[in-house]
Amino acid sequence: MNHFQYVDNDLFCEKVAVKDIASQVGTPFYLYSHATLTRHIRGFQESFASVPHLVCFSVKANSNLAVLKIFINNGAGLDIVSGGELYRGLKAGCSADKIVYSGVGKSAREIREALEAGILMFNVESPQELEQINAIAGEMGKKAPVAIRVNPDVDPQTHPYISTGMKKAKFGINIQEAVQEYRKAATLPNIEVIGVDCHIGSQLTKLSPFVDAIEKIRLLVATLQEEGFAIRYLDLGGGLGITYEDETPPDFDGYAQAIINATKGLNLTLVFEPGRVLTGNAGILVCKVLYTKKGEVKNFVISDGAMNDLARPALYGAFQGILPVDRSQQDTLVADVVGPICESGDFFARDREIAAFQPGDLLAVTSAGAYGFTMSSNYNSRPRVPEILVKEDQILTVRERESYENLIQGENIPDNL
Ligand code: LLP
Repeated sequence: MNHFQYVDNDLFCEKVAVKDIASQVGTPFYLYSHATLTRHIRGFQESFASVPHLVCFSVKANSNLAVLKIFINNGAGLDIVSGGELYRGLKAGCSADKIVYSGVGKSAREIREALEAGILMFNVESPQELEQINAIAGEMGKKAPVAIRVNPDVDPQTHPYISTGMKKAKFGINIQEAVQEYRKAATLPNIEVIGVDCHIGSQLTKLSPFVDAIEKIRLLVATLQEEGFAIRYLDLGGGLGITYEDETPPDFDGYAQAIINATKGLNLTLVFEPGRVLTGNAGILVCKVLYTKKGEVKNFVISDGAMNDLARPALYGAFQGILPVDRSQQDTLVADVVGPICESGDFFARDREIAAFQPGDLLAVTSAGAYGFTMSSNYNSRPRVPEILVKEDQILTVRERESYENLIQGENIPDNL
């Protein structure tokens, strides 16, 4: 059941017409469906019901407190990569012992805060980081629970910017060197080794890279267990892809079956860090067409939303769908959908056949619930847009539109200027 659908010619989110939200909150805005978020987290959880597991939603995909709360309500923990994400996670009510902390550059302050909170584990990405965590835990009189993020060197067959598990990537520790690192960890007095971690990339649409990675990791786990390490968790990261255009990624059950088979007999609690698959298609970005214009060789549809609001097309050349909020007019045209920002890269779609939008029309950029708002900025001094959650017939503002005052918050003009 898709919770973004047309009723006659009007796009609805659950029981609310998108145009009604637009007239209430103005444009642009992000719009999330509570029912879709709930269905996704429950579906993911249920597909792994037969094995011990913990789903830690990857906060970087969508860090809105209300979104985090929906997942937490459904038994999820969180995967964080910064002190800011830890702060958000705790504010949303996540219990610290369901938080895993990934990322290659955790600062001393961030490590201290995470130890203070009592997180489940650090996914350690380098020998120096391991030493640093040991030292800080020592100062605090604590033992830090860690997994080492290993880099299994498999090709996730996705966009190079979001491939993370290959030799040339900055992430993790080469799987060949990992045993050495584990032995070293065992000698550190303030480290408790409890897991193995890997994350090979994002927007994966095939199962084989996940399975290949697990095969390599099984050998490592076996070696570690023979050497007496009490490994309890296997964190397999995130990465399951979604349909933006015509991709056909595995569904939750297909993914779960492949992983359950590949990890059979390991007797470890599986940890997952899904981001995009839980929120991507649970959100859209709604914009208004300001103008249309005919260039010499192209048509342009100029929307009030821009690359600062949704960076993925500009940054990765990523495809995001463009739908008319009112589809009663059936004509189409081939056009670029662009924003007001002063950069040629400011586009949502290029040379795309879309509805023949007119000024004042609303358009929805689809699959915008992951890496949408979280990657937005104030570039060109554009206030960030609101985030709206629809729950059945309720329109809930889960983040206000920024004001001009918000834009200059914290800035000052020194007296001696
Ligand atoms: N765990 C770790 C350690 C990660 O680095 C990531 C994503 C995830 C989990 C969640 O991956 P997901 O399930 O969402 O694929 N901005 C890019 C995506 C960057 C992904 C970074 N890491 C985009 O918009 O496509």
